[in-house]
Amino acid sequence: MSLASEQAGNGIPLVFLHAFPLDRRMWAPQESFAKHYRRIAVDFPGFNESRLTTSSSMETMARGVMKTLDSLGVREKAVFVGLSMGGYVLMQIARVFPDRIRAAAFVSTRSAPDTAEGKQKRLDNIEIVQKQGVKKLVELQLPALLGETTHRERPNVVETVRGIANAQPADAIIGALRGMAERSDMSTVLDGLQCPALFVSGAEDTIIKSSEMEGMAKRVKNSEFHVVEKVGHLLSLERPEALDDLINHFLKRRVL
Ligand code: MLT
Repeated sequence: MSLASEQAGNGIPLVFLHAFPLDRRMWAPQESFAKHYRRIAVDFPGFNESRLTTSSSMETMARGVMKTLDSLGVREKAVFVGLSMGGYVLMQIARVFPDRIRAAAFVSTRSAPDTAEGKQKRLDNIEIVQKQGVKKLVELQLPALLGETTHRERPNVVETVRGIANAQPADAIIGALRGMAERSDMSTVLDGLQCPALFVSGAEDTIIKSSEMEGMAKRVKNSEFHVVEKVGHLLSLERPEALDDLINHFLKRRVL
């Protein structure tokens, strides 16, 4: 099933895949990419304007992204930018549709599946949403979603994230939590990745440490790895100019 999406601009398709528990609006700071690329951002199933599907597995989401590109008439290979859950989906796109990828940017994400403890936490979070609602979960997640510098110095970013997350329906959140808990190990997908790949991590990210992302980047032949200072997990919102510079330079050097 196609996903709700927005597109602007012309040129090489550049597709933005959002994090959990947000939606495509988290990529508003990256709107200027539409000046040079065909910028596309999607909402995963149940989030924002997308309808919920029976499964919210990472593979279902990946298939939804590709259906959406088909329905938008995107025939050529696209560049994908996936942040955290968006990166999990991007790895599924690389597994199932390797021929559709021109280049991949993995931001604040991991190829490893959940540990037993991580899976249990997802189940606990599902129960929190069912019993206490989405807002309760969002308040519990907010401290880790953003870096300590952002919590101290960028109150508007904290409010943006809170606003987008609180707007999500409980069913979307629960579906995505299940989908993320069921993820399999994608390390071998990284080993086989043939396209240019960018890996970016926030120095203050406590959800996925920079050292883990560096290890992922080393598995990919044609890759580069960068750490952005003074940001945490949602670095595209925390210091958009830093991420945008990295993506722009990567595209100029490796893709155009
Ligand atoms: C995200 O930002 O998408 C989440 O932190 C991913 C996760 O919970 O594993």
